[in-house]
Amino acid sequence: MNSIIVSMVATAGLVVSGFALAGDMPAEGKAKCGACHSIDKATMAPSFMEISEKFKGDKDASKKIAASITMGGSFGWEYGNMPARGLGANDAEIQSLSKFIAGLAK
Ligand code: HEC
Repeated sequence: MNSIIVSMVATAGLVVSGFALAGDMPAEGKAKCGACHSIDKATMAPSFMEISEKFKGDKDASKKIAASITMGGSFGWEYGNMPARGLGANDAEIQSLSKFIAGLAK
């Protein structure tokens, strides 16, 4: 009995820590980008980590990323098209998400 409870607690702990990792995505990113993007898994769009790798070492990375998000469209990833501003991100959100994405690949 006790071991069942222990394993349930352990499982719950894993689930919670899984959420904590996914929680690294800023709130506006979850709401306006998370339907298509994840931080580290390619889903129906490139992961934010892959995108960060693409711009790594470019001192204008966050500016370029912001321009891509604002325009939307296709950027050569061959996933299809991204809607301009994702699901309605405003300029301030685009600025902060761009910095976040640019900072992922170190
Ligand atoms: C409806 C799905 C969808 C949503 C929502 C979405 N994206 Fe995308 N995004 C895509 C797809 C698809 C691509 C890849 C396009 C291609 O194949 O070139 C992409 C590509 C990108 C790129 C790559 C730009 C480049 O120059 O390589 C960035 C940065 C990006 N998205 C950021 C965001 C951010 C930030 C948000 C939220 C504000 C967001 N996306 C919301 C689908 C989406």
